[in-house]
Amino acid sequence: MEGEYYKTKESVDEYIKLAEGFNGADLIKTLKKVLSPNSTVLEIGSGPGSDWKILNESYNVLGSDNSTEFLNHLIAENPNGEFLELDAKTLRTDKKFDGIYSNKVMHHLRNNELAESIKRQHDILNPKGIICHSFWKGEGSEVFKGLFVNYHTKANLKKFYEDSFEILSLEDYQEFDEGDSLLLIAKKK
Ligand SMILES: C[S@@+](CC[C@H](N)C(=O)[O-])C[C@H]1O[C@@H](n2cnc3c(N)ncnc32)[C@H](O)[C@@H]1O
Repeated sequence: MEGEYYKTKESVDEYIKLAEGFNGADLIKTLKKVLSPNSTVLEIGSGPGSDWKILNESYNVLGSDNSTEFLNHLIAENPNGEFLELDAKTLRTDKKFDGIYSNKVMHHLRNNELAESIKRQHDILNPKGIICHSFWKGEGSEVFKGLFVNYHTKANLKKFYEDSFEILSLEDYQEFDEGDSLLLIAKKK
């Protein structure tokens, strides 16, 4: 069934094993050039929590995911951490943040859902707040392991963000293959 992959204990355990050794350290290094230490940061789709741990070294970070199984794992692994059940589409929280970060999460949103998420991110950011998101680069969409995957080009991401955010950088990077990913860093207008 579409959307179930991150929702069962078996698949979450499998994902955590597959993702071992991968993290967003380089992405966070880039974020740190524009977002000061000790800023408040919301991470969307923390998943296994590797990036949450790195963000937690520099920032006042709140982790989140829409999967109860991932949240159980995050809370068990990081008893002193703060985690919320949040859906990237709606981001139902009254809290405000200086930055919002996600690594390979936003591609699970359909175009209309991404637009809705961007609007909510704008709402919950403090003035001049920073967003930092990674995407799979490409065109079109597919269903992979029962999950919706939306690919983006630089031009297409610019269209989504440029009305409400000043794009500070939008660059290719390599996750598995050369140029298979995009990192967007932008500031709230
Ligand atoms: C590919 S994993 C990436 C996890 C982590 N950011 C990393 O880099 O390892 C996608 C994560 O996003 C979460 N996710 C997927 N759709 C989501 C949504 N609509 N709202 C919040 N989290 C979502 C999944 O539960 C999973 O933890």
